[in-house]
Amino acid sequence: MKSDPVLDLRHIAIIMDGNGRWARKRGLPRIKGHNAAERSIHDAVEVCGEIGVEYLTLFAFSTENWSRPKAEVSFIMKLLSRFIKGNVDELHRKNVKIRTTGRLSDIPSGPRKDLESAMERTSGNTGLNLILALSYGGRAELRDAFAGIASAIVSGAFQADDISEEMISSHLYNPDVPDPEVVIRTSGEQRLSNFLLWQSAYSELVFTPVLWPDFHAEQLRECLDEYRSRKRRFGGVE
Ligand code: FPP
Repeated sequence: MKSDPVLDLRHIAIIMDGNGRWARKRGLPRIKGHNAAERSIHDAVEVCGEIGVEYLTLFAFSTENWSRPKAEVSFIMKLLSRFIKGNVDELHRKNVKIRTTGRLSDIPSGPRKDLESAMERTSGNTGLNLILALSYGGRAELRDAFAGIASAIVSGAFQADDISEEMISSHLYNPDVPDPEVVIRTSGEQRLSNFLLWQSAYSELVFTPVLWPDFHAEQLRECLDEYRSRKRRFGGVE
């Protein structure tokens, strides 16, 4: 699949925020907001498929989210299983390859097995790479990369002077995935919250006040229009 020719866009990353506030506005428990998140995920996959984006990374659960109330964490893990089991057929039909980033070993065995089987089943697909960031933290990812590099130095494979930016990138969780051209965050918050810290060094950041359950195809297209209006200089001049 080729990158979108108009947007020059290979990788969209999204911080799906605002589920709890969406529910509260309706007088509903927070978990209803997470429930309502599924349609927005569908829409994002659909739009990425239409415009030929190769990678869509969704921040589904951070290393910090484990500190949420136990019942909410357990609900999100069940929702993850339900999402995978309920959507894997359709995603497979759409040639989507399901992948993850983060410390998958932290995820309880039920949803982890569902994910692993979906990844295995879709591993040969050549369309959109749908990357679910689960128990993901940018600092944890960098810590793990540095630990890998340190072990290689201790073993004598190379020396500290050999460390380059490319080498650090190659020790991240998914070294084949290009940096996102754009990181979108819903719900009006304007921060990265430990998402793709290394990879987003030159990403365009697009913030929208729309809460994630209200973020559908039209809202995503608007964010991509905003991205398209930006001039990317990568520290140089035009
Ligand atoms: C942010 O809203 C959302 C999360 C931290 C969890 C995201 C989880 C899902 C979208 C569902 C599970 C994932 C999949 C792939 C099915 P928030 O709860 O922080 O909202 P708030 O800031 O309004 O409280």
